[in-house]
Amino acid sequence: MPFPRAAGRARPPVLVTRRLPEEALDRLAARCEMTVYDSEGAIPRDRLLAEAAGKAGAITVLTDRVDEEFLDAAGPQFAVVANYAVGFDNIDVDACTRHGVLACNTPEVLTDSTADIAFALMMAAARRVAEGDRFLRSRTPWSWGPLMMLGQEVHHATVGIVGFGRIGQALARRARGFSMRVLYHDTYRPPAAEELAAEYRDLEDLLRESDFVSLHTILAPQTRHLINAERLAMMKPTAVLVNTSRGPVVDEQALAQALKENRIFAAGLDVFEREPEVHPALLECGNAVLIPHLGSATVQTRLAMANLAVDNLLAVLTGESPPTPVNPQAAGRRTSP
Ligand code: DGY
Repeated sequence: MPFPRAAGRARPPVLVTRRLPEEALDRLAARCEMTVYDSEGAIPRDRLLAEAAGKAGAITVLTDRVDEEFLDAAGPQFAVVANYAVGFDNIDVDACTRHGVLACNTPEVLTDSTADIAFALMMAAARRVAEGDRFLRSRTPWSWGPLMMLGQEVHHATVGIVGFGRIGQALARRARGFSMRVLYHDTYRPPAAEELAAEYRDLEDLLRESDFVSLHTILAPQTRHLINAERLAMMKPTAVLVNTSRGPVVDEQALAQALKENRIFAAGLDVFEREPEVHPALLECGNAVLIPHLGSATVQTRLAMANLAVDNLLAVLTGESPPTPVNPQAAGRRTSP
């Protein structure tokens, strides 16, 4: 899948929109003229558009919108956007394909760390870990009591996994280790389901039967507010909802209401509808465990993601096939300079 327009440039200019693990940036700097927005915060939109102009490619993060406006600003020489995330809902893939720009993501390398955090949220929400920590820090006098801060059991419970791709399946493996029954819902039936003894359910039955519901879908028009007031009402009053996918998959207002009225037991959320903003009503819910999009946030995984993003970028710029493209068909749309 050659990229003749980019290939052959000695040190192509590239943009990196956020500070990334240094080891990976060093590899990129050795081969490219690299501009890094060296910050922990998101690059402002006007700066993003200005910095993209004239570049051969970019490593972007999930807060950068890559759309027609971005691609026009970058210019016709722009060949590749390597997203530093497995999710790519920040990228208009069709627009990239029209522009002959390869879009790439970072699957696989973050599967286990994201499944770990989903399981951690299940445990923390069901066993009231964050609430217990806040309680002690409040210095409220207490003594051990048989009815104090009772949670829900995780082992031998039923987990319903919505979206049974790599991360959903990795969560199922963890759940099997806790002797849990595993249900799943997806638009396809992966062969791994049998090996994991995971039973297919339609979404409504999964919500009714599960003690834990964990979301692992992509964000697309059909999954926006997939979990809304009506579907929350189908869940058990003892159930825990976990979201490590994308915030808009859950109607946060409806969730906050359900939590407040104890219509479900608890929620564990890594992602939010209007990130980085967290719905103020959720902040008021003691039965919600809230963490700032930490799914892939381990030293090892973030380095592996950075290396994969660099591999994707360098491959395209040297005329090779990138390891993990999301629109490989874009390669055929590019023409020589
Ligand atoms: C992703 O990769 O999509 C996560 O949300 C960030 O690691």
